[in-house]
Amino acid sequence: MNFQDEYSRLRDRIEEYLRNAVPEDVPQPLGDAMRYSLLAGGKRLRAVLLLAAYSLLKDDIETALPFAAAVEMVHTYSLIHDDLPAMDNDDLRRGKPTCHKVYGDGMAVLAGDGLLSLAFESIAASEHPKAMLLVKELADRCGTRGMVAGQCADLEAEKGGGSEKLLHYIHLHKTADMITAPMVMGLTLAGASDEQIACGREYGKDLGIAFQIVDDILDVTGDTAVLGKTIGKDAEENKCTWVSVYGIDQARQDASSYTENAVKNLDIFGDKAIFLKTLAQHTLMRVK
Ligand code: IPE
Ligand code: IPE
Ligand code: MG
Ligand code: MG
Ligand code: MG
Repeated sequence: MNFQDEYSRLRDRIEEYLRNAVPEDVPQPLGDAMRYSLLAGGKRLRAVLLLAAYSLLKDDIETALPFAAAVEMVHTYSLIHDDLPAMDNDDLRRGKPTCHKVYGDGMAVLAGDGLLSLAFESIAASEHPKAMLLVKELADRCGTRGMVAGQCADLEAEKGGGSEKLLHYIHLHKTADMITAPMVMGLTLAGASDEQIACGREYGKDLGIAFQIVDDILDVTGDTAVLGKTIGKDAEENKCTWVSVYGIDQARQDASSYTENAVKNLDIFGDKAIFLKTLAQHTLMRVK
């Protein structure tokens, strides 16, 4: 199967799973706000990573679906909050008006809160013997040592004085942590060895940093209609980005180096890793 077909196959599985993931009994308009953002499309990169990492060692991806869904719920929550006027103040996400534009700021805060809780509910409901380990990994990577810490630094950096050290901290935590989590979760679930998990973690880290560098580049060179987000916002909000600190040429070079490093970490998995290696190359070339 070629790369695109395999990516679409995994993405379709998660899309189908997510369609019924928000319970019917969530009060309105909260339920609609949660579904609006969760089902607005998106690349489903983090879910695909989890399923692909699991598939390095096991075939029954059914088992991994509740966990892949959980990661996408946490990711969507982070985007809803990231777009709020008090944070990045964005009106467009995944080609649609942002959650707060449609449902109001308060309901968008709650939709994010709801998705975060639902993510952990989804893991707990699986009753998988490894569930507790996965809760720990996801909570670590999305919380105050992970994505939330990165978002805190991202906001603080708007005040100016963004150093290289701060930039690396921001990208590692606000983005790479939530790329590392699905790799580690998928491998843990599949019964990988500590060495295999460590390699998966390193791949996630390098891929995650490359991913955010490309996101920063696309904010300058991208096309709003293709990207589904308004371009030029980083400069407007005085964000500390790879482009603002190193310039666009260096950013392109660094994205490429991080991608190369990411790929090397997967050698331990042999031919099985071709999909994840190709995925890293595609991430580098992406336009959305
Ligand atoms: C956007 O993530 C936020 C970043 C970490 C750059 P994605 O570019 O993966 O967004 P979706 O899920 O495809 O919409
Ligand atoms: C997002 O970084 C990181 C998150 C945790 C959501 P950005 O603020 O650059 O992401 P976009 O460009 O809004 O998707
Ligand atoms: Mg942001
Ligand atoms: Mg943003
Ligand atoms: Mg961005």
